[in-house]
Amino acid sequence: MNGKLPSESYVIMTNLVLPNDTNQLGNLLGGRLMHWIDIAAALAAMRHSSKVCVTASVDVINFFEPIKLGHVVKVLATVNRAFSTSMEIGVKVYREDPLNGVEVHSSSAYLTFVAIDQYGKPLSVPPITPNSAEELRRFEEAAIRRAQRLQNRELMKANRSK
Ligand SMILES: CC(C)(COP(=O)(O)OP(=O)(O)OC[C@H]1O[C@@H](n2cnc3c(N)ncnc32)[C@H](O)[C@@H]1OP(=O)(O)O)[C@@H](O)C(=O)NCCC(=O)NCCS
Repeated sequence: MNGKLPSESYVIMTNLVLPNDTNQLGNLLGGRLMHWIDIAAALAAMRHSSKVCVTASVDVINFFEPIKLGHVVKVLATVNRAFSTSMEIGVKVYREDPLNGVEVHSSSAYLTFVAIDQYGKPLSVPPITPNSAEELRRFEEAAIRRAQRLQNRELMKANRSK
């Protein structure tokens, strides 16, 4: 299978924070942001693979800064690396004050998506070909994170079968 560039599946999702998206403090709900992160990552996975993709796992999501009512949320998603049937998607969230255009990095996440057929059976996906030093760093680090995820899964399985 020919490799594809990360830029081919790049997603920029832009949302305005409205009252229904906020908590009692007027800040964006964490759950709403997680939903947007999941959708942006799913779009990147489907663009890369041209297949239906499901969320297999979500690594830690950090919320660095609150996002206020009336601010703009930009969710950027890229396929960092594709393996056999799974892909690691890196997501970065920026909040923008629309009155002055100032952007602040407010969240980051890594998600794993798997391409599946109509019966839920995993399907192979094209590899990623990194095209810059930054993309190469993400590509290499994705393999390290995947090794840790697989090791965690094995440790949990071993613990349950004790
Ligand atoms: C994700 C899913 C398709 C994996 O199916 P499976 O039969 O367990 O498949 P396999 O064990 O053969 O794994 C397939 C790939 O998924 C990866 N994978 C499976 N579980 C994973 C997890 N928890 N975290 C990261 N990767 C995972 C495997 O590493 C493998 O990757 P590779 O082919 O690139 O090496 C299946 O577990 C599923 O359908 N889960 C529900 C998904 C869903 O509904 N998500 C929405 C949230 S409710």
